[in-house]
Amino acid sequence: MSETFELLKGKLQEAKLGGGEKRIEAQHGKGKLTARERIHFLLDEGSFEEIGALVTHRSTNFGLDKTKFYGDGVVTGHGTIDGRLVYVFSQDFTVLGGSLAEAHSEKICRIMDLAMKTGAPVIGLNDSGGARIQEGVVSLAAYADIFYRNTLASGVIPQLSAVMGPCAGGAVYSPALTDFIWMVENTSYMFVTGPNVVKTVTHEEVTSEELGGANTHASKSGVTHFASANEMECISSLRKMLGYIPQNCEEETPRVPYEHDGSELRRALNDIIPENANQPYDMRDVITGVVDEESFFEVHKDYAENIVVGFARIAGQSIGIVANQPAVLAGVLDIHASKKGARFVRFCDCFNIPLLVFEDVPGFLPGTDQEWNAIISNGAKLLYAFSEATVPRITVITRKAYGGAYDVMNSKHIGADMNFAWPSAEIAVMGAKGAAEIIFKKEIKKADDPQAMLAEKEAEYADMFANPYRAAARGYVDEVIEPSMTRDKLIRSFEMLKNKVDKLPKKKHGNIPL
Ligand code: HXC
Repeated sequence: MSETFELLKGKLQEAKLGGGEKRIEAQHGKGKLTARERIHFLLDEGSFEEIGALVTHRSTNFGLDKTKFYGDGVVTGHGTIDGRLVYVFSQDFTVLGGSLAEAHSEKICRIMDLAMKTGAPVIGLNDSGGARIQEGVVSLAAYADIFYRNTLASGVIPQLSAVMGPCAGGAVYSPALTDFIWMVENTSYMFVTGPNVVKTVTHEEVTSEELGGANTHASKSGVTHFASANEMECISSLRKMLGYIPQNCEEETPRVPYEHDGSELRRALNDIIPENANQPYDMRDVITGVVDEESFFEVHKDYAENIVVGFARIAGQSIGIVANQPAVLAGVLDIHASKKGARFVRFCDCFNIPLLVFEDVPGFLPGTDQEWNAIISNGAKLLYAFSEATVPRITVITRKAYGGAYDVMNSKHIGADMNFAWPSAEIAVMGAKGAAEIIFKKEIKKADDPQAMLAEKEAEYADMFANPYRAAARGYVDEVIEPSMTRDKLIRSFEMLKNKVDKLPKKKHGNIPL
């Protein structure tokens, strides 16, 4: 009997070594962890249960029958993060460059299927040379099997992707179909076609890092939500995110115990809005001043910085925050900001995470660039995302709420449950100067002193609309509150809304303006 045990032990030991010591050294030499080390740091100590450690490929093409490794280049299984079940696959670059083909894909599909049946998140740690070239079309089919599952699982279970090495060609579409992507600076990249193809086709000279590195995707394309300085930071960010989200779409959002420490007044909030309405301030100061201490976890930080999105807790309850950022481009809504906001709102709505909106928006960004690149359909994404969200939704207007952007930013009219405004709020079709120039065009033209007339009419308009009281009189704003009271109001409002049930009309699915 001991011989059979030894045989098993030997096979498992071999599996643990992936592509062997030399390749592990090479992996470390690049500043990268191995597939198993990543799992070790990601999951709770000792919680990993491997599935399919002894799987091998069945291909004989191009001498592959002589190049077999246990596990076929991906480590798969389940474990826990902070005691909660997750499924994980971790591609092993030391085995045939982590390339993906039939058996490798079957292993990933297996844990995805289990995750769907048991309602738990899937975390993919990607590090792969892409489709295994020797297996040809089988590799393409193998990718498609994963894409299909990514799509079916979307909105049912959270899917998180960390790209920790190469990810090229069609392979990028699996992470792209998941909810959030992490990348690591200098060691990971994503592109549909690499620098060589780019040079041949467009004659552009570009490095892998410039074309598809972490910072490029975090700030320019918005493909990745997080650019981490190293793998450990990436793993720790991934773990942290899970603390804000439920296991699946049927579950409640996680709550952490909250000790009421007496007063919920936050007096510092009264001093954030500058006297001059055109002066910027950092909306993050409002967010961190309102939510539970140290609970704000920003997502997509370096992309479309004129809108801020992220998770936080309020009285221990996980929430999603969408906020205009007056410190960048005056908080204007443009194409990128609309897409960023819409995607985040939809994630929160999929997974029952209540939404809190802070609004200070001068409107949509004018210009040919925006119009020709479809600000109309992109702005409509945000409008659509808020309108169809059925989770508890609260808006706080801190200052400007102008034009269509007022409607879009979770207004009462598109289904927000509670709307608060600070006394500094200005809710109107447009700024007072622009409004006066249009409405009183003739009077200003005829006046002896057009400038004085414009100033007078501007003051008249501002008097009427540069405040929250017209909107409050109509009930569009439920309450005008002193900023210091915001946290208290939000705690009570979210508590009141916790059993909210809202249903959309019966349909197959809506048609968001993509
Ligand atoms: C088979 C592969 C492979 C692949 C790498 N390897 N990619 N084997 N299929 N796709 C193998 C290498 O032959 C090598 O084997 C080992 O992995 C490590 O690769 P190196 O080249 O030595 O590593 P490095 O210098 O770090 O370069 C990594 C790399 C490069 C940039 C990823 O290997 C590369 O360009 N690979 C090809 C990438 C590619 O074109 N993939 C197809 C993309 S199209 P040995 O035995 O020598 O150690 C695609 C379509 C998907 O993926 C479509 C889905 C719809």
